[in-house]
Amino acid sequence: MGMDLGELNRIAKAMVAKGKGILAADESSGTIKKRFDKIGVESTEENRRDYREFLFRSTDGMRHISGVILYDETIRQKAKDGTPLVKLIEQAGSIPGIKVDKGTKPLPFSKDETITEGLDGLRERLVEYRGLGARFAKWRATYTPTQGRPSYNCINANGQALARYAALCQEENIVPIVEPEVLMDFDNDIDTCEAVTEWVLKETFAQLYYANVALEGMVLKPNMVISGMKAEKRAGVQEVAERTVKVLKRCVPAAVPGIAFLSGGQSEEEATAHLNAMNAAHPNLPWSLTFSYGRALQAAPQKAWSGRAENVTAGQKAFAHRARMNGLAAAGQWKADLEKQAA
Ligand code: 13P
Repeated sequence: MGMDLGELNRIAKAMVAKGKGILAADESSGTIKKRFDKIGVESTEENRRDYREFLFRSTDGMRHISGVILYDETIRQKAKDGTPLVKLIEQAGSIPGIKVDKGTKPLPFSKDETITEGLDGLRERLVEYRGLGARFAKWRATYTPTQGRPSYNCINANGQALARYAALCQEENIVPIVEPEVLMDFDNDIDTCEAVTEWVLKETFAQLYYANVALEGMVLKPNMVISGMKAEKRAGVQEVAERTVKVLKRCVPAAVPGIAFLSGGQSEEEATAHLNAMNAAHPNLPWSLTFSYGRALQAAPQKAWSGRAENVTAGQKAFAHRARMNGLAAAGQWKADLEKQAA
């Protein structure tokens, strides 16, 4: 199949449509087990299915969700009544996507750093995923902003992998979400996060260029420029918003249709407030700014559900609330008192 840039651009634009964002429901089996452990739920295939099924059946929540990133198991799963979960997402007017990286591995001779694996056989896997309904994909690379890290070796090696992944996706008419994530869970200050994020994005876009990736047919999923979670003093909402927009303007070409942030361990309300502050202060940026949150969309519904069938409605309500709050933030129309009204 030849690449169709018009189609890629149409999908990318739909993924970042005004007032909507992406649900990252692509936790690997290991990660979803960690989330379920927290709420005392056993991570069985059926529980994972039941949980994700109720999210995708939440009409009020899915209204604000342009696309859903799935894990390999989930893209093949069927709802209790036999409907493929992919169909539920499509019926909700949302686009199914798939995580295709195979996770991070230690980078040799580079203490505390990782390289993301998964390129071998990727072309063939993309063909299969497209057949299963995926119209976009995700690949995540991570960078440690502390103790003289990241190294150029790490930034360059991960940049090359992201670029080859993105090119392979486009060849198969799948929109790549390019996710270079500067991790947030250290004690670094915001200056360090800013400098590292700028370097990582500059290198990533250089590699995308060398790999002939069409910027019009991709979505960037970056971290925000933010103080580390363990920093003694953490920057406030306006500072995070301004520094993030400044770095993005310096690094992300206007041809990219949209930028969908990861939440990275921020609290749910923090992730919403930061996105809202950017959109409220900068209504005319060259790309749309929205969310592609995992934890910041799912922590509340997971807790409300806690694995009990009688709590599904409460779980759906919690999901719908977070999705609506983030939808408003993606349009710069969120207010803190909307949170209190719901509580
Ligand atoms: P978080 O929003 O929980 O960081 O997850 C987003 C994601 O997809 C990470 O790859």
